[in-house]
Amino acid sequence: MMELKIQLIPTGEIILPPGKNGENFCHNCKVVASDGVRAMMESALTARDRVGVQDFVLLENYTSEAAFIENLRKRFKENLIYTYIGSVLVSVNPYKDLEIYTKNHMERYRGVNFYEVSPHIYAVADNSYRSMRTEGKDQCILISGESGAGKTEASKKILQYYAITCPASEQVQTVKDRLLQSNPVLEAFGNAKTLRNDNSSRFGKYMDIQFDFKGAPVGGHIINYLLEKSRVVHQNHGERNFHIFYQLIEGGEEDLLRRLGLERSPLQYQYLVKGNCPKVSSINDRSDWKVVRKALTVIGFNEDEVEELLNIIASVLHLGNVQYGGEEGSACITSDTQIKYLARLLGVNGSVLTEALTHKKIIAKGEELMSPLNLEQASSARDALSKAVYGRTFTWLVNKINASLAYTVPDVWVVVCCSFEQFCINYCNEKLQQLFIELTLKSEQEEYEAEGITWEPVQYFNNKIICDLVEEKFKGIISILDEECLRPGDASDFTFLEKLEDTVGGHPHFVTHKLADGKTRKVMGREEFRLLHYAGEVNYNVNGFLDKNNDLLFRNLKEVMVMSENNILTQCFDREELSDKKRPDTAATQFKASLAKLMEILMSKEPSYVRCIKPNDSKQAGRFDEVLIRHQVKYLGLMENLRVRRAGFAYRRRYEVFLQRYKSLCPDTWPNWQGKLADGVSTLVKHLGYKPEEYKLGRSKIFIRFPKTLFATEDALETRKHSLATKLQAGWKGYSQKSKYQKLRTSAIAVQAWWRGILAKRRAQRRRQAANTIRRFVKGFIYRHKERCPENEYFLDYVRYSFLMNLRRNLPKNVLDKSWPTPPAALKEASEHLRKLCMQNMVWSYCKKISPEWKHQMEQKMIASELFKDKKDNYPQSVPKLFVSTRLNGEDINPKVLQALGSEKMKYAVPVTKYDRKGYKPRPRQLLLTGSSAIIAEEGKLKQRIDYGALKGISVSSLSDGLFVLHVPSDDNKQKGDVVLQSDHVIETLTKIAICAEKINNININQGSIKFTVGQGKEGIIDFTPGSELLVAKAKNGHLSVTAPRLNSR
Ligand SMILES: Nc1ncnc2c1ncn2[C@@H]1O[C@H](COP(=O)(O)OP(=O)(O)OP(=O)(O)O)[C@@H](O)[C@H]1O
Ligand SMILES: [Mg+2]
Repeated sequence: MMELKIQLIPTGEIILPPGKNGENFCHNCKVVASDGVRAMMESALTARDRVGVQDFVLLENYTSEAAFIENLRKRFKENLIYTYIGSVLVSVNPYKDLEIYTKNHMERYRGVNFYEVSPHIYAVADNSYRSMRTEGKDQCILISGESGAGKTEASKKILQYYAITCPASEQVQTVKDRLLQSNPVLEAFGNAKTLRNDNSSRFGKYMDIQFDFKGAPVGGHIINYLLEKSRVVHQNHGERNFHIFYQLIEGGEEDLLRRLGLERSPLQYQYLVKGNCPKVSSINDRSDWKVVRKALTVIGFNEDEVEELLNIIASVLHLGNVQYGGEEGSACITSDTQIKYLARLLGVNGSVLTEALTHKKIIAKGEELMSPLNLEQASSARDALSKAVYGRTFTWLVNKINASLAYTVPDVWVVVCCSFEQFCINYCNEKLQQLFIELTLKSEQEEYEAEGITWEPVQYFNNKIICDLVEEKFKGIISILDEECLRPGDASDFTFLEKLEDTVGGHPHFVTHKLADGKTRKVMGREEFRLLHYAGEVNYNVNGFLDKNNDLLFRNLKEVMVMSENNILTQCFDREELSDKKRPDTAATQFKASLAKLMEILMSKEPSYVRCIKPNDSKQAGRFDEVLIRHQVKYLGLMENLRVRRAGFAYRRRYEVFLQRYKSLCPDTWPNWQGKLADGVSTLVKHLGYKPEEYKLGRSKIFIRFPKTLFATEDALETRKHSLATKLQAGWKGYSQKSKYQKLRTSAIAVQAWWRGILAKRRAQRRRQAANTIRRFVKGFIYRHKERCPENEYFLDYVRYSFLMNLRRNLPKNVLDKSWPTPPAALKEASEHLRKLCMQNMVWSYCKKISPEWKHQMEQKMIASELFKDKKDNYPQSVPKLFVSTRLNGEDINPKVLQALGSEKMKYAVPVTKYDRKGYKPRPRQLLLTGSSAIIAEEGKLKQRIDYGALKGISVSSLSDGLFVLHVPSDDNKQKGDVVLQSDHVIETLTKIAICAEKINNININQGSIKFTVGQGKEGIIDFTPGSELLVAKAKNGHLSVTAPRLNSR
């Protein structure tokens, strides 16, 4: 099983006299050592320009305290509270909650190399944990610093880190919970509000966590040192007793308080009013009480144990209220109430207790005598009992917690007293410093040897001389103190001082008022001695040294406690203690022994250090009190630390790590070095231009002497990184674009192929369809004459369809357009119907469009057509010429004629030529048609009126001439015979006459000649012959000969 230990150095300050901060103390420090073991500093390199350096080893001016403090200040201002000195973590209390302890932060530090992330307590925790797991070596983390510097907080952070990041099974979870929960309990019983810290640990704590082979925490062990028992009975102004008293009184249930006989007011208790500050704003006793009660259960306390524990706490308060009175020389207790409660709570006999509190047992001549105590003695006996009861109970508590963490119970002892305690603490610090230097040098030397690099002995201030002064057998201060305590006779603090002067008076690190020179004497009291610690000079007042070194609990009080029925107390006060005649070891000797034991433990482990610094005395965030910090830097020996680490080589790194990081800076090593690592590194540094004195090559590591060499390399790497990044980016961009393009291309091809497929399928389908169509067509064609059957139905339908479609396109445009597509056989009838319909439709719509005038015209033309079509040669010529309503207007006709007509309305008038009946002389006349008769007028005369009723007929030739004969009855005397007329508009004229006279059927068209009556039964003949031009003349045979021109149309 491996172990990882966390050591909190009890209130680790060395108190210096005001104004004497031991400025010169470093004169003795013969520096020069070399760097620490795991100086992981690359992260410091990257961030150094931003906020100082992350590792003091990289300070160019490493011997300057001012530079050191300036670096701390810069970082503190930016809330960067952690800085390394090699592997030592320096932590400055921020006095505010920083967002750097989240689960994410824990994850960031988990399993990551020290130098890859910024300094953090988690890095230390993780590094120790990993060293333990990979190297199989026990680890310890030493946390030191003055009160309020943040030791307890640091240890809690480490515990939380392990609780969260270590692997855990269900069983391990209990251990984790108990480890975490032991904190509030120990803090309730062992912490108190002081002037320096509202939650000051008033005991030293050594915590030990065991991990199994999987790296899961499986057990823990706590050793407590130096509980400040004097606080139980006395507190300085502005300070409090241990938290638990206030928590109980504030938070305890009514019932509980009644059982314990307590009132809910700290002011009622003498032990709680000395510091005059029962309430602290930053502390909530009531809620803390709940936390503690719960934690006790988690740790495994049962109800009875809790009850007994609280009985003891309450009894201490009652003890404090025990009042003495009585005569001078023999004190007696003035009130019974406390004794009653005490008897019950402590489980002892009240009167025995009363006696023990007022008497002292003396053994004189083999007889035991009870000697009364005076008032002063009695109260100090009472206080001694309170301290002993509380102190031992605290120890019991620690053991109980240890038992719950399944580990053995350690030896524990306690020392009390202010200055005496400081003496012990400073001694402890001295020992730790010695250990630190030894370990650092040892590991440094080992590393040099392992790497085959010549070890130059490092000069450093060895504080063994001070340790010896304190602890040496017979000659050391502790031995002298013990001797004074034990020797018979009137030993006092003052005789102790004299003895010191006698024995160690010549020691270079020891001074008293008597031995000092004039200047020192001024600042030293007569009861003081001064030690020149490695970190500075400290004056100690010898007052109380003897008493505090002795454990002053009277034997009879011990006897009472041994008889207690309280289970906890019986464990605390052992019966054997009474029978053991040998004096118990003095406090200083016990302390020395356990310190030696601690050193032994620490020596066997690989240490990590956390050095806590308090930035100001007012618990304020953001305040950087330079004087206070310089003082701490000094007493923590940080400059010494740095000097030792920087003495040889500032930086060292395994070849593979160095090469891996910087290989890009040399073309030979980039991208990969194939040969031996050492050769690679050698090539690389030569390429970088390292001078021989700047570095050394060991067996597996390179050692670089100055930070600036490394910075230059690091800067080169920064620049190189950019160009590499650009290259990588370009490469990557090219690659990603290419793959994007490839993807696009393949997608496009896929889409194309798919689309082509679709198109091809469609085309194939169309071809198939076309082929089918053609095949059906051909088949249909073959079977076209057959009855409709599946083979030909398509064809037939197609033919029909195409005929109809063709028809649709080629319908006749007008009624005269007689064109019509030829229908297939099957559609002949339908076609005919359609044609008729179409014609009807055209006619109908034509008719609809016709005006009355046109209709009239058409009617006349129709009649003309009926009469003359194909019968008379000049008819076709007349067709395109419209018939007019009259050829002579009112002004063309003689007014006399019009007058003669009277009311008769003239329907048509036309100029005509009349041929005489006898000589066939042509005479120009006007033919006028009225409603009832046709009138031939000559100038102003109506020459002849033919009533339509008398009009027998009209004759006309079939040739193209304009002659016509109006036949009238020959027996009508009024008439002179038939009238031979010639009109240029013969068709129009005749049609009009026929219509007016309603003689449509009476028009004769004659071939060759026309016979007509001349009057009185005589007959005339007109002969018509076709010729080249119109010629009308009387022929020799007496006939009227008419030659009509031949017309083209015929
Ligand atoms: N890392 C931190 N972040 C925030 N606050 C802190 C931190 N460390 C310490 N503090 C504050 O400082 C106070 C004192 O710290 P802490 O109790 O750890 O001091 P300490 O060194 O243990 O002192 P003592 O020797 O008196 O026990 C804490 O209560 C807390 O308010
Ligand atoms: Mg503390």
